[in-house]
Amino acid sequence: MAEVRIRGVRKSFGNVEVIHGVDVDISDGEFVVLVGPSGCGKSTLLRMIAGLERITDGEVMIGGRVVNQMPPKERDVAMVFQNYALYPHMKVYDNMAFSMKLRGAEKSEVDQRVQKAADILGLTPFLERYPRQLSGGQRQRVAMGRAIVRDPQVFLFDEPLSNLDAKLRVQMRTEIKELHQRLKTTSVYVTHDQIEAMTMADRIVVMHDGIVEQAGEPLDLYDNPTNTFVAGFIGSPAMNFVRGTVRANGGPARLEAKDGVALPLGDGWSGQDGRSVVYGIRPEHLVLAEAGQRSVESEIAVVEPTGAETLLVSRVAGGEFQAVFRERHAFRPGTRVQLAPLLDKVHLFDAETGQRL
Ligand SMILES: Nc1ncnc2c1ncn2[C@@H]1O[C@H](COP(=O)(O)OP(=O)(O)OP(=O)(O)O)[C@@H](O)[C@H]1O
Ligand SMILES: [Mg+2]
Repeated sequence: MAEVRIRGVRKSFGNVEVIHGVDVDISDGEFVVLVGPSGCGKSTLLRMIAGLERITDGEVMIGGRVVNQMPPKERDVAMVFQNYALYPHMKVYDNMAFSMKLRGAEKSEVDQRVQKAADILGLTPFLERYPRQLSGGQRQRVAMGRAIVRDPQVFLFDEPLSNLDAKLRVQMRTEIKELHQRLKTTSVYVTHDQIEAMTMADRIVVMHDGIVEQAGEPLDLYDNPTNTFVAGFIGSPAMNFVRGTVRANGGPARLEAKDGVALPLGDGWSGQDGRSVVYGIRPEHLVLAEAGQRSVESEIAVVEPTGAETLLVSRVAGGEFQAVFRERHAFRPGTRVQLAPLLDKVHLFDAETGQRL
């Protein structure tokens, strides 16, 4: 096991820079998830840790050693890919044993490690099968088994679950999390799926256009996003945003938005009087207003019950509000509803920079 340090790392392909100076420290035994939209540079960063991509500038350290110039096989990392990259002509056993055999390990040691990994992953009944005789989830487990057998200092995962159907994906993410709790191997896991990031990570690193927007524990990012990008990316359904101006005189603090709509604000924001901001409120922080409660009127557009909860989409200030209710209501599209934002859950961001106020 080892810690991974990424210091001022940049990557250019030709003269196009795609990673613009990234710093991430990953502690020994930590499970860190790199998350961000397609093309933000997650795989490129992971591949630089693995040694599959040259580092243009900056430093990557694994276990205290700078690995920039070190070939992949000396870095003592094991990578699990989205497409599994199994050898189709080899049985499961041999797929898992391959890297150790290549290193010239003793047959008995190879056997012991493969059996142990197979046991951990529930693959023992499948060792004599070929990959084509396995389901997607089983193949995925073999790919993990191959990584486990190598007993590396660091696991690197690049979207390992994206070829699986939704149900299996949820099951496998629990399995990977359990596996990590058991092996405690330092892991860097790449995904574009923020739910995967939230549920699996000790710490999340949110990337966007080749930079780190924010790094932190899942619920800390959720509760305290540093800017509108992170606020909008983490959380599903996403945070609602409304642009407007803070007004604090002639009544309680509020946001003045389009079409004369006013959204209530806590008195703590009075100091921002006159400032152009983006007002953010999460769907679960909108409630049905009680008599006398400060609220905003909206017109119901769509009602989406899922059983456990109901998503209400309504129109406010030229935009849409999504609200989530656990209790059941007789919402009807076209009717009006008074929504009250929980005032201590309102986020304000600077309208120009998007930075949290
Ligand atoms: N070999 C390459 N040559 C040129 N540009 C590349 C190369 N590999 C990646 N890029 C560019 O680098 C940027 C980051 O790509 P990367 O694959 O790291 O994104 P990603 O975050 O993993 O996206 P996805 O979620 O779609 O996998 C993209 O703009 C991509 O086009
Ligand atoms: Mg990728």
